[in-house]
Parts: sequence; structure tokens; C-alpha cells
Amino acid sequence: MAHRMGIIGYGRWGENWHHTCTERVEGLSCTAVYDPDPDRRRVAAEKGLLPYDTVEEFLREGDFDIVTVATPNNYHKDMSIAAMANGRHVVCEKPVAMNTAELTDMMAAAEKYHVLFSAHQNRRWDKDYQIIRKVLEDGLIGQPYVIESRMNGAGLQSGGILREWRSYTFAGGGLLYDWGSHLIDQILFLVNKKVVNVYACLRQIKCPEADDYFKIILKFENGLLAQIESGSYCVQPMFRWYVHGDAGSVYIENLDSRAGKVLHTKREKTDYFPLTIRTAEGPVQKMHPAGSDVLEEMPLPEIQSDWTSFYMNFMAAIDGKEALIVHPEQSLRVMKVIDACFLSSASGRVVEGEI
Ligand SMILES: NC(=O)c1ccc[n+]([C@@H]2O[C@H](COP(=O)([O-])OP(=O)(O)OC[C@H]3O[C@@H](n4cnc5c(N)ncnc54)[C@H](O)[C@@H]3O)[C@@H](O)[C@H]2O)c1
Repeated sequence: MAHRMGIIGYGRWGENWHHTCTERVEGLSCTAVYDPDPDRRRVAAEKGLLPYDTVEEFLREGDFDIVTVATPNNYHKDMSIAAMANGRHVVCEKPVAMNTAELTDMMAAAEKYHVLFSAHQNRRWDKDYQIIRKVLEDGLIGQPYVIESRMNGAGLQSGGILREWRSYTFAGGGLLYDWGSHLIDQILFLVNKKVVNVYACLRQIKCPEADDYFKIILKFENGLLAQIESGSYCVQPMFRWYVHGDAGSVYIENLDSRAGKVLHTKREKTDYFPLTIRTAEGPVQKMHPAGSDVLEEMPLPEIQSDWTSFYMNFMAAIDGKEALIVHPEQSLRVMKVIDACFLSSASGRVVEGEI
């Protein structure tokens, strides 16, 4: 069945979604926009959308069954609930809310008004992430025990790269909300075990108010550690993914997923002890790289993946043909981890629990 979408917040991402959906998602069209900024409404009108200057009018008159909320983060809750109360299905941009309490209210509204609600976690369809999933599912590195996921940029602009509302905490700015919401969602969906410890440190390196660097360590119930890092001023790039299992390692250098390798240990070494190599600092015993006699090097698996699958699934869920892939209960876990990260960073302590 064909569906129509109205967009609340026609900024950079709202416009991008309009373009993606119109050009690439079969069965979905965009019809209307609400944005308080007259310049953005003018751009929307130029692209053939009906622009509204009040949300009430947009919801009362707009011809759509799906609303996408792409405003600054502090408006996600109110805009989503207003749309749901009007009987529209809602896709809300990430981070879906500012905290767990807000998200709980949004989930209650979806139940009350019998509509579908999902967070736009499009990066579950990123190829680099899907490749890591495949390597782990196929057991190519055995049981993973540590996962490093990183998204850094070398933002050399003075004052950093966080601009406008993204640089203010009241508006939901900062990298933990911005990239953390993607990276945490990916890890939770990848590991699929309970988180029992959260440690996080948020810093302001160039941005005066909001966090523009964070490091998070999650410990899962099976002992697996995940380290998630994002910084907007990290001049030397590091691997996007770096994962060790009990039968090998995998790394992916960056988002475009071409550079990387799977290293699988064919067998354990029997002539283990004591191997010594000589370095400028003196002899080093045991801690050297594995040799080709025990290692099998494999290219990264080929994966086909596309962000548009998110909307195809959302529409199929409205039509009762599929279950939602990004379910609000999963978003609730992400939000609980984000809450725990803020708490851990403010207190300097590990937050314990079961998430
Ligand atoms: N899923 C992703 O990969 C992805 C990527 C980029 C941005 N986003 C998300 O999209 C959202 C918007 O980001 P952006 O980069 O487009 O920001 P932006 O500043 O470019 O656009 C925000 C728009 O919202 C409008 N706006 C402000 N207050 C509003 C209100 N109360 N009601 C309706 N509209 C309002 C602004 O006028 C502006 O046009 C954020 O939540 C962000 O996290 C998601």
C-alpha cells in the first residue's frame, strides 16, 4: 500500500529525507512540511511540498499518514506526541528523546493512540556494521570478547564542529546524543545481551558547552567489553571497528568499508614458549604478532545493505506485513544506556545495573 509522509523540521536532515524517500523508497511520497523558519518553508515549497507555519494546521490538514520528526533533539518528544495524538504513525530522528522518561511518555502515546512509532536508527543498515555482524554470526573470529567502535573526525575549525543547536545542551546537543545514539544502538543490537556496567567520560575539547568527545565502556553479562568512542577533534584516524574473538580478529578502517581484514587463527601454536623477538628496546617475549603459519587472512565479507530498508519495513509494519525492525523497546535500552553515560560521566563512577 502507498503511504504519504509529512516532515516536521525541514532542515538539513529533513530535506535529505525528503529527497531519499521521494527518489528511492518505492510506495512512499512526501506531501507537507512544518517548520517555524520561513526560509525552510520557502525551500520546501520550491520542492513541491505544502509548507505550514503552525504544527496544529499541519496536523489538522496535512495529507499524510506518517510523520517524520527531524527537529533539534529537544523537540522530539512534543512533536512526536502531537503527531501521534492526531492519529499519525511517527518516525522520530535519533536520539529519539532526551532521556528515558521522555521516551516512556512517547511509547505510552503510541499505545494510547494505536499508532506505530520508531526511532530512525538508519545506521543499523551501514555496510561496515553489517559486515561486523556477519563476521560474528559466521563465527569467523570465534567468541568476541572485546569490540571497539569508533567514529572520529579531525574537525579543525576553530570552536569545533558542533554548531548551532548541536553546541547547546538544552537543545540536546553534543556528540553523545548525536553519534552516541547510533553507536550504542549498533552495539546493543550486535551483542544482544544485558549490559551490566556502564562507564563513560564526556569532554568538551573545542566546544564550550556540549560534549565533543566521549569514551564509553560497556560490560555485558557474558563478560564482553565494548568500547565506544567519538571525538570531533581527533586528528589521527583510528580504525572504525577493531574486534577480538577467541579465534581471531577483525578490523575495518573507515565507514566506506573497503579497507579491513578478517584474521582467523587456523590452529593454536604448539611450540609456544619461549618465543623472543629483538626490538630497539630489548628482547620481547611472547607478545608478538601471529605468523602466517597459524593465521588465515580473509577479505571482509561482501554485504548488500541500504538505509531505505528502514522505511520499507516501517510501511510494511503499518500494513501488518512485517514486525518493526527498530522497536521502541530497543530504543528504550539505548536511552537507558545514554542516561547511564551522563550519570557515570558526572559522578566519575561505573553505573551498575541490568539494561
Ligand atoms: N539519522 C541520521 O543519520 C541523522 C543525520 C543527521 C541528523 N539527524 C537528526 O535530525 C534532526 C535534525 O538535524 P538537522 O541536522 O537536520 O538539523 P537542522 O538544524 O539542519 O534542522 C532542524 C530544522 O528544525 C527546524 N525546527 C526548529 N525548531 C522546530 C520546532 N519546534 N518544530 C519544528 N521544526 C523546528 C529548524 O528550523 C530547522 O529547519 C536531529 O534530531 C538530528 O539528530 C539524524
